[in-house]
Amino acid sequence: VGAAVSDGGETARPGRVLVIGASSQVGQFAIPRLRARGFTIHALSRHGRPAHYPVLDGVEWVDPERSRRALADYAWLLSAGPLALAMDYANAMTALQGIAVTSSSSVLSKADSPDPNEQMQVEVLRQAEEGLRSLARNRRLPLLILRPTLVYGCGLDRNLTRLAGWIRRFGIVPVSSRAGGLRQPIHADDVAQALVAGLAPRDQRELVSPLCGGDTLDYRSMVRRVFSALDRKPRLLTLPPGVLAGLLKAFSAVSRGSEVGPEMVYRQSRNLVFDDAEARRILQIEPRRFHPGPAAFALPEARLIERLAAGQ
Ligand SMILES: NC(=O)c1ccc[n+]([C@@H]2O[C@H](COP(=O)([O-])OP(=O)(O)OC[C@H]3O[C@@H](n4cnc5c(N)ncnc54)[C@H](OP(=O)(O)O)[C@@H]3O)[C@@H](O)[C@H]2O)c1
Repeated sequence: VGAAVSDGGETARPGRVLVIGASSQVGQFAIPRLRARGFTIHALSRHGRPAHYPVLDGVEWVDPERSRRALADYAWLLSAGPLALAMDYANAMTALQGIAVTSSSSVLSKADSPDPNEQMQVEVLRQAEEGLRSLARNRRLPLLILRPTLVYGCGLDRNLTRLAGWIRRFGIVPVSSRAGGLRQPIHADDVAQALVAGLAPRDQRELVSPLCGGDTLDYRSMVRRVFSALDRKPRLLTLPPGVLAGLLKAFSAVSRGSEVGPEMVYRQSRNLVFDDAEARRILQIEPRRFHPGPAAFALPEARLIERLAAGQ
């Protein structure tokens, strides 16, 4: 560790990085991407290395207790987990040289939600963002806060993977007759690459930005592409929003853990699109277009993670 690596003219100084949310969809791709850049990694999880995940040289899966004992050793913090937890860790890390974290575009899109649960989630994110910004300013640390839109890519998201599961089970998707809202789904690996690019010295110390996928498409087209990913003929059942909201409410009452609310139906008509041009330019990333295959809705294969870690 410690040798400088060069990437596109940018020089990063690898060292030990703590990855919070290592088992999350973004974390699972961030680990090999960091490895490919020469960082050594403590991957934080309360449950150890996930069973499907390969053993990688330079990556140690640590529990919260072990990570707390190593606080003074971490040069970098990358978080794809709860933002408040990242804030907590950053406060206690004395040798920190930079921070890159995911927040969520819901900070922008759900700010005026009438749903009290969503309001609370947004407030928690906002406070953690503010806390990290003032910490980074006080300690003169480079800080990247990414607010990704709809994230998918390894079967762990609760949006498109759930939709894929629904399609496999029922073969038809009810959508609101007002489902014309625009979406920009982003692959977890693209979020991971942007975070890793953020762990490098740069002139602009603070970058807080949305991050979107390479395609902007309306809700119905997005649903159709999930059908295509599963090699199914798209079958959409168009219903008035009020009827669909009622049906989903009834479904969620009988189906435990389904977490579908009427707000999700009404949001189908809203554009959830953001301008991330500055982040793309600074981080030099180009998120992929939305043409998923079945692998986008399943855990990543060990071979893929190993290949990414080898920089291939
Ligand atoms: N899902 C999306 O579509 C989406 C969209 C935009 C932004 N994001 C952002 O992406 C990030 C991850 O979101 P998510 O929905 O994938 O998952 P999440 O529920 O926010 O976080 C899950 C991850 O955090 C870790 N974690 C949670 N509590 C922990 C604790 N007390 N101690 C240590 N680790 C803990 C979990 O690790 P273990 O369970 O292994 O311990 C897991 O890896 C968040 O910043 C979120 O705002 C997600």
